[in-house]
Amino acid sequence: MGAADHETAGMMAGHDAGHHGAPVPMQARAGGILQGRVRVSGDKSISHRALIFGLLSVGETSVTGLLEGEDVLRTADAARALGATVERLGAGHWRVHGVGVGALLAPRDTLDFGNAGTGSRLMMGVVGGHPITARFDGDASLRKRPMKRILDPLQLIGARALEQAEGGRLPLLLEGARDAVPVTYETPVPSAQIKSAVLFAALNAPGRSTVIEREASRDHTEKLLAWFGAEITVAPHGELGRRITLTGQPELRPRPIAVPADPSSAAFPIVAALIVPGSDVTVESVMMNPLRIGLIETLREMGADIVALGEREEGGETVADLRVRYSALKGVNVPAHRAPAMIDEYPALAVAAAFASGETRMNGLHELRVKESDRLAAVADGLAANGVEHAVEGDDLIVRGGEGRVAGGGTVATHMDHRIAMSFLVMGLASGRPVAVDDTAFIATSFPDFVPMMRRLGGDLG
Ligand code: S3P
Repeated sequence: MGAADHETAGMMAGHDAGHHGAPVPMQARAGGILQGRVRVSGDKSISHRALIFGLLSVGETSVTGLLEGEDVLRTADAARALGATVERLGAGHWRVHGVGVGALLAPRDTLDFGNAGTGSRLMMGVVGGHPITARFDGDASLRKRPMKRILDPLQLIGARALEQAEGGRLPLLLEGARDAVPVTYETPVPSAQIKSAVLFAALNAPGRSTVIEREASRDHTEKLLAWFGAEITVAPHGELGRRITLTGQPELRPRPIAVPADPSSAAFPIVAALIVPGSDVTVESVMMNPLRIGLIETLREMGADIVALGEREEGGETVADLRVRYSALKGVNVPAHRAPAMIDEYPALAVAAAFASGETRMNGLHELRVKESDRLAAVADGLAANGVEHAVEGDDLIVRGGEGRVAGGGTVATHMDHRIAMSFLVMGLASGRPVAVDDTAFIATSFPDFVPMMRRLGGDLG
């Protein structure tokens, strides 16, 4: 896809302001009930990986249900710069003609990942295992995010950063390993991005590499490695962790990928239906991977009426239609060990907790500080702006719910963070006064259809 196509896909996705365009503020206010059936876009994590696996296998990989959000389009551009032919055949239907492990081209230009932590970090792994050099960059949000956590293990494999911004940040120039060496690496924090970067780099090393995680993180890379024919074993490690062993230099064979609907995007219509009185919404075909549905589990503990209907297999994952009805929620204690299974969902959970009765305590949120924004601070500020009682104690967030009532009336600073924007727009659909967010442009990174979809359900956003 060339620059013109990129533009077209963005426009088709309803996006009218790029990263560097003027901010697009918006308000949400309480109106009628939310009702109807919707399907959210393809999973962002799997969409990035689908394009990368296409690049790393020789021949044609067909992808359906691809998320055409800006983050994923950046990964498509990077895959092309590294030698793949990437074509859009129709809505969500893409074809990648890859070059295979060991045969990547050195990109001529900077790989610009925009807002995308996942795209940039996974591709650093891919480049890190190959004897090529590439410059990585991103927007102001991505330039603040830590990359040392990726560079450290890549160094063990033989890569090094020739240039980097202070503290191991973008922009950076990465020289991949001339002869990648296999590693055994334990990730310092539960992170699928670190794990995946190591596995992608280790693909081009001879022999076996092992990644150990003390707490299991999302397993899409492991599942796709197996699906594309790599030799990979996954064993338990301690009570919550995993030990993943990969045999390097496989010949990955192209396989079709059907991307299931993103549970992290589904979080927004789900929470909206729970807090807007009288609502009855069905979110179709949501991926129910156990490492992704901590939010559903937590909401159910809070008393949410969420029924999973028609469980079935799609694209190697269990999916279900989730029927969600307005519910009187009560506060709960969310254990820290659940964080990896709902790491992107805390802003949405904080909104649900604001409408619950009693206190919700979310423990162990340190990783929230290094997302697209410092999400712990951004959520706390958004709650404060809208009259929600809360406290941050160390890495824990405590929200004191208003038993169905939230004052609203505030303007929330989104800090280039799509999930902050969507969460507080959802809050506005049920609060006493409207909630404003300062910029909705970044919603297009992960969920371009969010605003039209919420309007179709009956939400008053504008
Ligand atoms: C992702 C992993 C998570 C998550 C991100 C997507 C992935 O990040 O927050 O949105 O696709 O691997 P960490 O690995 O930093 O926890």
